[in-house]
Amino acid sequence: IARILSAAPARPPPSGEATQALPSVSPGIQRRHTLPASEVRPLNAQDAVSVFEIEREAFISVSGECPLHLDEVRHFLTLCPEFSMGWFEEGRLVAFIIGSLWDRDRLATEALTLHKPRGSNAHIHVLAVHRTFRQQGKGPILMWRYLQYLRCLPNVRRAVLMCEDFLVPFYRKMGFKVLGRCAVTVGALTFTEMCYPISGHAYMRRNSC
Ligand SMILES: CC(C)(COP(=O)(O)OP(=O)(O)OC[C@H]1O[C@@H](n2cnc3c(N)ncnc32)[C@H](O)[C@@H]1OP(=O)(O)O)[C@@H](O)C(=O)NCCC(=O)NCCS
Repeated sequence: IARILSAAPARPPPSGEATQALPSVSPGIQRRHTLPASEVRPLNAQDAVSVFEIEREAFISVSGECPLHLDEVRHFLTLCPEFSMGWFEEGRLVAFIIGSLWDRDRLATEALTLHKPRGSNAHIHVLAVHRTFRQQGKGPILMWRYLQYLRCLPNVRRAVLMCEDFLVPFYRKMGFKVLGRCAVTVGALTFTEMCYPISGHAYMRRNSC
C-alpha cells in the first residue's frame, strides 16, 4: 500500500476506465531536507485541520453545509485512515478523498457518520481540491488513483458516492454510473447516487455495479 501511494501522481487513461496496475514512478532527483514536491498518501488525524480548511472554502462558504465537520473528519481519519487519500505539494495538502465502508447496496443517512468494517462498499464521503489547484485535472487524477488503490484492499466490491446533480457529468467521465436518486438529503439539498465497480471481471466492471 505504501509503495503504491508514494509514487508521484499519474494521469488516468482518457476514458477514466482504469484497467491496469499503477505505474511505478521513480522519484527523480532526491533532495535532502526538503519536502517532497509531490506526494500521495493516506491521511491521518493530524491532517484533519488541513482537510477542514479546504472543506470550509469549498462548501461552507458556498452553501453553509459541508460533507464532514471537523470532528467527523477526525473520526474517519482515526477509524479508517486507509480509506482516505491526500495529495500534497511541498507538504501542503492540495486535494483529498475521505471514505469509509458501508454495508448496504444504497446509502442511508447513517452512512454519513458510520464506518461498517464488514461492508463491501467504499463510501466516498468527499473529494475536494484546494481552490488554487482546481481546473488542473487533479480531482480526476486523485480519484483514479483512489479507485486503483481500492482494488488492492480486500472485500471492496464497489465505490459509491452521492453528489449534487451538477457534478453527475464530472463523475460519469471517471466511469461512475448513476444508481438513481439518493435517499439521503441534507437540509434542502438532494443528491444523485453513483457507483463504480471495483472487483469482478473487466466486462462486469464496464457494464454494472
Ligand atoms: C469538483 C472538484 C473536485 C473538481 O476537481 P478539479 O481538480 O478542479 O477537476 P478538473 O480539473 O477536472 O476540472 C473541473 C471539472 O469539475 C467539474 N465541476 C467543478 N465545479 C463544477 C460546477 N460548479 N458545475 C459543474 N461542473 C463542475 C467539471 O466537470 C469541470 O470540468 P470542465 O471545466 O471541463 O467543465 C473541485 O472543483 C472541487 O473541489 N470543488 C469543490 C468541492 C466539491 O464540489 N467536491 C465534489 C463533491 S464531494
